[in-house]
Amino acid sequence: SQLEKGGYPHFMLKEIYEQPRTIVDCIRGRINPDTCEVKLSGVIDHRDRFVNARRIIFVACGTSWHASLIGEHLVESICRIPVEVEYASEFRYRNPIIREDDIVVAVSQSGETADTLAAVELARKAGAFVFGICNVVGSSIARATDSGAYIHVGPEIGVASTKAFTGQVTVMAMLALAVGRERGTVTEAYYNEVSAALLHLPETMEEVLKVAPQVADLAKIFTYAHNFIYLGRGYNYPTALEGALKLKEISYIHAEGYPAAEMKHGPIALIDAEMPTVAIATPDHTYEKTASNIEEIKARGGKIIAVIARGDEQVRRSADFVIEVPVIAECLMPIVVSVPLQLLAYYIAVYKGRNVDQPRNLAKSVTVE
Ligand code: G6P
Repeated sequence: SQLEKGGYPHFMLKEIYEQPRTIVDCIRGRINPDTCEVKLSGVIDHRDRFVNARRIIFVACGTSWHASLIGEHLVESICRIPVEVEYASEFRYRNPIIREDDIVVAVSQSGETADTLAAVELARKAGAFVFGICNVVGSSIARATDSGAYIHVGPEIGVASTKAFTGQVTVMAMLALAVGRERGTVTEAYYNEVSAALLHLPETMEEVLKVAPQVADLAKIFTYAHNFIYLGRGYNYPTALEGALKLKEISYIHAEGYPAAEMKHGPIALIDAEMPTVAIATPDHTYEKTASNIEEIKARGGKIIAVIARGDEQVRRSADFVIEVPVIAECLMPIVVSVPLQLLAYYIAVYKGRNVDQPRNLAKSVTVE
């Protein structure tokens, strides 16, 4: 299996480095490079369903649930369709309200997660239209849905999901653009900006991977920590949740993701020199507010690792360590920002001697309840 790892020490690292190419495979044939037009056959074939949808409900587990939270933000802002995001395990046992003009989007890398499959079956019985976002072609969930779009990122072996997450968000962005255009809820300028950014995303991913050696050095400093907090807002609030999940899964360090502004309602009580904060502070309309959250943490003796835009001066001055990332359309930043967070979790786990590809107690796909 050393051969299968392509020279990398772990599948997880290989899969992190594959992301520029997996994004190419994910968008291949779906965005016209000349016109920037986005075409998903699973949407085209069911255009009226999407145009007339009263509501979209994402159902998923784990990392796929985090991707769905980004999907919520994308679909609500680009398509102006109300969205709910549900843990499949909760949804299925709640006697949920499902109508025939709802679309249920099931998100699953493996396409075999028992709870997500059960949620799909429930939604179909209730008469909803079910759309799948899966990786494994011909998987149970892919077969049980009415339509869908594969993420096409290739086999993911590492238990901690990396390239599947970025592929899921990429598909969700294309889905939102395709539906938004049909519904007339997206301006030409915004549509073109986001689809052009998607076309350039493979190069952006190459760029952001250059932070790896620096993140590896940082990881060495932080192996002492028993708790971490990850903060982000807007599109990057789910990125913070996902960053914390990666660290928990493979390093066994307790980590919590929080929306930055919510910190003052509880987690700030935990801040001291022992608990580092990873703060996502890339440019958006809440940047200034996140910058002042960082000041508050610093005032309480907390150590801060900030993910910032290249050239940022303000947060750089208050953070203890910074990781600079290239900036693209705000709604796609979770894809870029998740790379250094994947690497941080990876290197911390490696320095702690953990079994990165097969962490204790976890399974790649949970096919039983
Ligand atoms: C397991 C895996 C996670 C994954 C989750 C959902 O917990 O360890 O990495 O996110 O299942 O899996 P799915 O295949 O449905 O995306």
